[in-house]
Amino acid sequence: MTASVAAPDQVVLVVDFGAQYAQLIARRVREANVYSEIIAHDLTADQIAARKPAALILSGGPKSVHVDGAPRLDPEIFNLGIPILGICYGAQLIAHQMGGTVGRNERGEYGRTTVSRSGDGGQLLNGLPDDWTVWMSHFDAVTEVPESFVSVATSPNSPVAALECPDKRIYGVQHHPEVIHSQFGQDVIVRFLHDLAGCEPSWTMKSVVEESVAAIKAQMGDSGRAICGLSGGVDSAVAAALVHKAIGHRLTCVYVDTGLMRQGESEQVVDTFQRSQGIELIHVRAADRFFEHLEGVTEPEAKRKVIGEQFIRVFERAQGGIEDAEYLVQGTLYPDVIESGTGTAAKIKSHHNVGGLPDDLEFELVEPLRNLFKDEVRAVGTELGLPDEIVWRQPFPGPGLGVRIIGEVTRETVSILQHADAIVREEIIAAGLDREIWQYFAVLADIRSVGVMGDERTYARPIIIRAVTSDDAMTADWARLPYELLEKMSNRVINEVDGVNRVAYDITSKPPGTIEWE
Ligand code: XMP
Repeated sequence: MTASVAAPDQVVLVVDFGAQYAQLIARRVREANVYSEIIAHDLTADQIAARKPAALILSGGPKSVHVDGAPRLDPEIFNLGIPILGICYGAQLIAHQMGGTVGRNERGEYGRTTVSRSGDGGQLLNGLPDDWTVWMSHFDAVTEVPESFVSVATSPNSPVAALECPDKRIYGVQHHPEVIHSQFGQDVIVRFLHDLAGCEPSWTMKSVVEESVAAIKAQMGDSGRAICGLSGGVDSAVAAALVHKAIGHRLTCVYVDTGLMRQGESEQVVDTFQRSQGIELIHVRAADRFFEHLEGVTEPEAKRKVIGEQFIRVFERAQGGIEDAEYLVQGTLYPDVIESGTGTAAKIKSHHNVGGLPDDLEFELVEPLRNLFKDEVRAVGTELGLPDEIVWRQPFPGPGLGVRIIGEVTRETVSILQHADAIVREEIIAAGLDREIWQYFAVLADIRSVGVMGDERTYARPIIIRAVTSDDAMTADWARLPYELLEKMSNRVINEVDGVNRVAYDITSKPPGTIEWE
């Protein structure tokens, strides 16, 4: 099983010391138009030299350099002549392994801290103001620099807040330039990459498209058909568009219309792929089958299971129409690859698949997004001419509206929810909040309450509006929507959607809630 990924010649390797920072650093490097990859800290100098990196960045990490089992670098790495930037733990490790001293402070520094340049700030910090605000998170601190290094900044609890040895092209900062709360953070990263390490700013979305297309062509050669399941989401859409650019009509997409999509979504997928992009598309209208199997099913896990199973059956049957398909296109992203641990394994979480495709399908995988972060996937989508509605689509669960209807899922309940959900989406977009809010949608509860409309007593269902902010869906907070917006959504839903007489706003964060209701 191979995967078609573009691998540019120039790479910056981000050495992961076990905190959450490595991914963020890798993204910031790419924002500086330099391709980056994350590697484990136990690679040897030979292994690293073999990758011929343009530079190394040592990430932060949760340990103290003094504890047993604290991660180290192969010391030979410091003699390879590769430019190195150490961040937080990475900077302490440079000091510790090269003969300086890392002391245990009386107090650490957490959160916003003022850093002051020493002298002209050396090569790394030259040009920055005398003092600026950064984000720190450390207990230990470098107290003495190694021989031939100089200290170029201080902070209240870091006598050496930045150090460097221009001869060896090794630099370190105690703060986290990768987080947005650090002023001039990206400037520090850019200074290191472009000016000190001599990296070319050549990683652009245009280059990603060109290199990915070349890699897909190389993987698939001149023959063989590929199949791609479209979910309507951005990942499968961009993967399909890239593969189509590479192999044209040898790609067939399958879109399973479960009847559980949002209002207008199926039409849009067909419109975008078949009509605008000219991609061969099998549009399977399978709603009847899904509703039939969902009859009487109310327990959330049972619903998910029914939907997942039916999806696989329908997909397999559709794929029966493309006998010679040898390749399966998947929208696996770089964070999934990193989470799988090895950086090379082609493990796909069923959660990320379209409804969870079975693993015994005998295909060679084509995964053109394996090296990309989500924001890059969106940029590639735009570069390929996909519409904003798809490129900026919010995450949507595989089982669709099925897990946003509490109780039985029927044509009628789906229709009520689709209508209310369309109003919620329209109003959030009209208020200009759609890119700030991670997910926003409506949920239909299976209770009824009494109301009054005109002179009539009503006894109908409530709609719950859910809108959350998040970075990664692991944690989330309820969005502080303006009252006027909530009022507008509430009025419209009650006036326009038959069968609904009350609107509530969900003010539960995750944890303890989840984003979806089921
Ligand atoms: P929860 O509800 O667990 O959701 O906080 C976290 C994120 O995952 C999405 N989600 C799914 N995505 N298949 C998917 O592809 C699924 O079965 C599924 N269930 C939840 C959810 O929308 C949120 O973004």
